[in-house]
Amino acid sequence: MSDLCVKDLCKTYSNGQEQISVLDGLCLEINRGDNLAVIGPSGSGKSTLLQILGVLDAPSSGTVELQGSNPYLLGENQQAKFRNQHIGFIFQDHHLLPQWNVLENTLLPSLAFGKATAEHQKRARDLLDRVGLSHRLGHVPSQLSGGERERVAVARALLLKPTLLLADEPTGNLDSENAKKIGQLLLEVPKEQNAILIVVTHSLELASSMAACRELRHGKLVEIT
Ligand SMILES: Nc1ncnc2c1ncn2[C@@H]1O[C@H](COP(=O)(O)OP(=O)(O)O)[C@@H](O)[C@H]1O
Ligand SMILES: [Mg+2]
Repeated sequence: MSDLCVKDLCKTYSNGQEQISVLDGLCLEINRGDNLAVIGPSGSGKSTLLQILGVLDAPSSGTVELQGSNPYLLGENQQAKFRNQHIGFIFQDHHLLPQWNVLENTLLPSLAFGKATAEHQKRARDLLDRVGLSHRLGHVPSQLSGGERERVAVARALLLKPTLLLADEPTGNLDSENAKKIGQLLLEVPKEQNAILIVVTHSLELASSMAACRELRHGKLVEIT
């Protein structure tokens, strides 16, 4: 069985009387250390898929199992703990806290434990070094470029050694040079950490550099033809 096993995933939204089917029997298997790009037109359900995989939104039916555990069978508190321990999420608009500096933003996930430990501090500094931001630890997001902010988001998502790293259009707001740098980091760092990486992207350059690429079409992930 693969580390991430998704079976017959369906998601429908209801808008008043109308039911909209977004995911319709989607299946996916992927192992730690592997990566996958997901492409597809706007509205095809890419963010919906990532949110379900990221334990942010429950599927209408179907199962998600990460190393044999289905987070949707857990209670609310256990689910939050699962998310914190196993999932790293990189948002397109990075979601950094404006009043916190680079180091503090990177340490954010460790606050679930009450306080960042010395080990968390060391790992945050190591990750920030790895993404080329050691000289920016005390800067707040408004003092950083878009590419630098996105790199903080990458470090933050990796802080607690997630099994599954999800990125929703991580290069969408960046110029081509910064997009290339983020793409490179996303290809290298999760692999070093033995994480599964799933990236939603509009960048065909990024998609083609990943180990596998699927298109989300009619609610399923299909080979690109
Ligand atoms: N909370 C929601 N309620 C109703 N419809 C939604 C909701 N979230 C997304 N949708 C609809 O689901 C479809 C897929 O959205 P989304 O997953 O954001 O697509 P993508 O990320 O591929 O652009 C769209 O038609 C969108 O309008
Ligand atoms: Mg989207």
